[in-house]
Amino acid sequence: MSLYKELEKEIKKLIEQAGFPEENISLTTSNRKDLGEYQLNDAMQLVKIYHTNPREIANSIVKELEKDNRFTNINIAGPGFINFSLSEEYKVEILNKMHEDLYNNIDKKAKKKIVIDYGGANVAKALHVGHLRSANIGEALKRLANLVGYEAIGDAHLGDYGRPLGLVVLEIKKLYPNLPYFDENYTGDYTNIDLPITNADLEKIYPEASRKAKIDEDYLNEARDITKKIQSHTKGYYDIWKRIVEISKADIKNVYSDLNVNFELWYGESDAMEYFPELEKIYCEKHLLTSSEGAEVVEVGKDTDKIEIPPLLFIRSNGTVSYETTDLATILQRRKEINPDEMWYVVDARQSLHFEQVFRAAKKANLVDDKTNLEHIGFGTMNGKDGHPFKTRDGGVMPLKSLIDMVNEETLKKITNQSMTEEEKKKTSKIVAIAALKYADLLPYRETDYIFDPTKFSDLEGKTGPYLLYSTIRMKSLLNKAKDLKQEKVIKLSSKTEEDIVLNILNLSTVINKAIDTKSLNEIADYLFTLTSLYNKFYAENKVLTEEDKAKQESWLVLTKVVYDLNMLLLNTLGIDVPEKM
Ligand code: ARG
Repeated sequence: MSLYKELEKEIKKLIEQAGFPEENISLTTSNRKDLGEYQLNDAMQLVKIYHTNPREIANSIVKELEKDNRFTNINIAGPGFINFSLSEEYKVEILNKMHEDLYNNIDKKAKKKIVIDYGGANVAKALHVGHLRSANIGEALKRLANLVGYEAIGDAHLGDYGRPLGLVVLEIKKLYPNLPYFDENYTGDYTNIDLPITNADLEKIYPEASRKAKIDEDYLNEARDITKKIQSHTKGYYDIWKRIVEISKADIKNVYSDLNVNFELWYGESDAMEYFPELEKIYCEKHLLTSSEGAEVVEVGKDTDKIEIPPLLFIRSNGTVSYETTDLATILQRRKEINPDEMWYVVDARQSLHFEQVFRAAKKANLVDDKTNLEHIGFGTMNGKDGHPFKTRDGGVMPLKSLIDMVNEETLKKITNQSMTEEEKKKTSKIVAIAALKYADLLPYRETDYIFDPTKFSDLEGKTGPYLLYSTIRMKSLLNKAKDLKQEKVIKLSSKTEEDIVLNILNLSTVINKAIDTKSLNEIADYLFTLTSLYNKFYAENKVLTEEDKAKQESWLVLTKVVYDLNMLLLNTLGIDVPEKM
């Protein structure tokens, strides 16, 4: 149980001793710190049960609080609001418990298994800002879920199956018609064929093919045909597709790794298609498929729908399967191979209709039981200064690599450490740029849109990743310089700032619980800033290394260590790496 929950429990016990047992107490941090650090509003509510006046109830509770030396400055305000503060000894004890183990103030949840789908990068296409948000929010949610005791499993769920692949293969066929892949009479081995294509080529080939398909009906039909050939494992086409997936996947892995994003599973949509025959059988046997203009669909609309939910396209009239169906097959695959309690999809909020259709169709066929929670964890868009989704100059989707470059340009200006070589500076700047981008992305509530502003994101002052990194590195450097000094335990607190730091640390479990409840990292991002700013205030107020009062000095060092450890733990939870120096 967290230190904060323990505090609540103690107070509940005292209220009970005062003669007013109740289920839930209402303890809050006070926004009138002059009256007390905490406020207890229970007397007002207990009136309804015990029918005496609130002041009397408050008086009896206060008498109990006064007997306990962990509480000080106890007073009653207004008709019966109780204010109180925590004693210095109690605060010292809290710090020492956190020094022992930060998990002392994190509530552990009952075990459950969650698959988190937060990749979605598409093979043969450059990653874009939407993929950044999925990866960033998803990775942090996964780490947060693990932190509170769940077992979270990340799946990259690469888009390796749809029409884009058909388009790419067609364009390659136009460029290199003599490749053995396209020769029906070829009987040799496909694995050793020299394919003159790099990932950079692929990223150019797809836009070109997609442009052609929009203006040329025949081209589009040919691409459809090839998609079908790939999906039905036609020799040659299937084999070149596999090669393309390999090339692209290697690059995608590098991009994710630069972002500090790691998946436990590197499945693609195509891996789920092994389950397609079984899936089709389930829908057939349950009579859930309806023919519609040559296609097979699943009706998912309900009478109670306020907006119309169109049927889910199960198989297209030309026999290929849709994005919806690959998601259904994936649900079946996950149930069979992992059997999780929950599946979370961290995907752009604009795909909400897609997930509504998929989840309804899945429940209709009992692909998962009623207890299994399927949840779309949507997020807003990253916008340009004009307030519209951030685009390239010519209106295209902004590639993730360009975004990172733009931030990197700004962070490089901030790395001025004289002791670093140019090479080191560049390496550090890349880490700082990723931190800047990731922190800015996690700071707003996930469904809120925000504006891409590389200058602001890279600022060393203010609510930014670089500010947090810089401050955290400074804490570490202080601890290093003091490594020969005693750093065992906190003995006393010497200022209001230190007391505020402790109150914030006590607030940790509440922040983490809120984050996991809302499945958004904004509370944690905010908390890191508050804690770090308070610590920096403390740092400016005191000269730790030259302090002559040894008890004071030791206490300060341990306080520094706790804040440093907490910063590292939470930055790590956000998926943000801290460089050695900066
Ligand atoms: N590949 C998709 C896209 O780029 C995202 C996939 C999201 N995950 C899912 N299970 N549908 O839009």
